[in-house]
Amino acid sequence: MSLAAELEQFRGEAVTQIEACADRDQLEEARIALLGRNGRLKELSKAFGQASPDEKRELGRKLNEVNTAVKDAFAAKQSALKRSLDASPIDVTEPRDNQRVGSIHPISQVAKAVEDVFSSMGFDIVDGPHIEEDEYNFGRLNIPADHPARDSQDTFWLSTGKLLRTHTSSVQSRTYPDAELPLRKVVVGKVFRYEEVDATHDNTFTQVEGFIVDKGITVANLVGTLRTMISAVLERDDVEVRLRPSFFPFVEPGFEVDVRVLGAEGRLANWVELLGCGMIHPEVLKQGGIDPDEYQGFAFGLGLERLTMIRHGIQDIRLFNGADLRGLHQFSA
Ligand code: DAH
Repeated sequence: MSLAAELEQFRGEAVTQIEACADRDQLEEARIALLGRNGRLKELSKAFGQASPDEKRELGRKLNEVNTAVKDAFAAKQSALKRSLDASPIDVTEPRDNQRVGSIHPISQVAKAVEDVFSSMGFDIVDGPHIEEDEYNFGRLNIPADHPARDSQDTFWLSTGKLLRTHTSSVQSRTYPDAELPLRKVVVGKVFRYEEVDATHDNTFTQVEGFIVDKGITVANLVGTLRTMISAVLERDDVEVRLRPSFFPFVEPGFEVDVRVLGAEGRLANWVELLGCGMIHPEVLKQGGIDPDEYQGFAFGLGLERLTMIRHGIQDIRLFNGADLRGLHQFSA
């Protein structure tokens, strides 16, 4: 190839290489390879030295032209890179690509499952205040001031004489006075106890309270409702429910309910105590302005943490309020 043709080829390749540089480092590398002391242009200049004086006139012009073109390309690229750096400073608000996606708390997931199944059975979803009157938390539930049942539900008292509700049964007493009958209601909400915290007790936890007031309600309705709820939450249709007589001041008769799953192996195969329930005490209905000779009802209350622990095989209740993401992320939906 003639030197003139080589120079022409060099010009094309050099300009392409310079324009392709993505940053200053690449551009500097290209400059050294093309225009540096041992670069390609130097090589070509050496060949020029060997040309005849006649050729030199023509080639000299070409050499200068190519030299200028490549240097211009270099300068243009240099200022283009500088401009783009100035125009896009580092954006410290740009999200990192390894961002961790949050997850729904296991209690919220089970709360949703419970609310969904009760909605499908025609229950209204309601709530009441966390800061409650003594009268609603205790008095109207047949637990007068000196009743020993208060001892098992020690609470946090406020200087105003109000208290942090110890159970969601308080929503029953709030609901009855202006309720339209018949009624079916369910509440999922926080409750508070003055408790020593350990693997099975927390001072802040979540209860589900369900209650129906209607004509001709029996324990059979109660059992059917409970089995439907538990089957939905455990996602099994072989749930067995067992009632044991028990005492709660606001129901008569009262029961404790155990649950097991027939086809299950391990923890769910054995009876586990899950909740309290019963037929609403006539006195509670009367206090709420409902005639117990005309209307009956059932009520139940359970700890949602306990149900969630059974569902997932969780051993320690402190997981829920502990904010240890390693624990909580295992239940991401
Ligand atoms: N309120 C009770 C508690 O916190 C639970 C409970 C038991 C609720 C029996 C009920 C019930 O509605 O009938 O320990």
